[in-house]
Amino acid sequence: MYKAFVRGLSDLQAMAAQVHTKARTPVYGKGQTVNRFPVPDDKVPWSVAFPEYKPTYFEDAKLKKASYADPDILNNKAAPALKFNGTDAGELNRVSHEGRYSLDPDGLPLNPRGRTGIRGRGCLGRWGPNHAADPIVTRWKRDPKTGAKVVDPASGRPVLQFVSILRGDVKEWAIPGGMVDCGEEVSATLKREFGEEALDSTMADAAGKAALAAKVEAAFNHGVDLYKGYVDDPRNTDNAWMETVAVNFHDEDGDGLAMFQLHAGDDAIGVCWKDISRDLKLYASHHQFVEKAVQLRGAHW
Ligand code: BGC
Repeated sequence: MYKAFVRGLSDLQAMAAQVHTKARTPVYGKGQTVNRFPVPDDKVPWSVAFPEYKPTYFEDAKLKKASYADPDILNNKAAPALKFNGTDAGELNRVSHEGRYSLDPDGLPLNPRGRTGIRGRGCLGRWGPNHAADPIVTRWKRDPKTGAKVVDPASGRPVLQFVSILRGDVKEWAIPGGMVDCGEEVSATLKREFGEEALDSTMADAAGKAALAAKVEAAFNHGVDLYKGYVDDPRNTDNAWMETVAVNFHDEDGDGLAMFQLHAGDDAIGVCWKDISRDLKLYASHHQFVEKAVQLRGAHW
């Protein structure tokens, strides 16, 4: 889709080798009281025997009515077969960025990174991969008076800023990403989510929406792929997990994307240009994605 950041993509193996931790947080989900069955680090891979493993079964009640959710294929044997490792008729992409995933004896997809302590989908709508896309929109921090790039005195490197949103659900700062809709191209998701969450396009009238969309369209021409694959997300379960494509859109001269009027919208309750450094605390694996943008741009970390 976009140019790939070669160093970033070769780092993918390193990320792939990491043992997931957020996907094993003891209590599952926000406001939930579901305890995950504890999985020690060495018992995470499916290839390691763990006869005592009795994952907690959990499916959020809202999935029964949600239009974006799959049927309950575990309890409803009459449900239509889903095309795992393929693309469903309605063009729903069930292919993982991580390669082919296996199915358990009940026909449920198995998390490619191993055990999580929860069986079922938890609060995720899809069995198997749930695809998201994350636009990392960056600019250089500049002195408001002179316009010169601000350099960090300790590292001697210029400070990069990215558009960050405060997620309404978990109240954590994050990249303004979101779920890929059924049949949607990832490139379209990146623009749509940025428009909805960072520019509040959902509140604009038809003409306003079109104007914002045109601006984003023009500014999102030159992205660099930073990451494609599994996300260590607290919503993950043994049978449903998050994957994403993170793409960097950078405004080198500060006269394009950098000039957007930011307004939090949709699931976001705050938005700002955030200074990037290693101390940032961000949602899910977003810290790692932002670090990749830093490496690509030679910025302060
Ligand atoms: C978020 C993305 C995130 C993904 C995986 C989605 O809900 O919108 O920003 O990368 O989950 O955590």
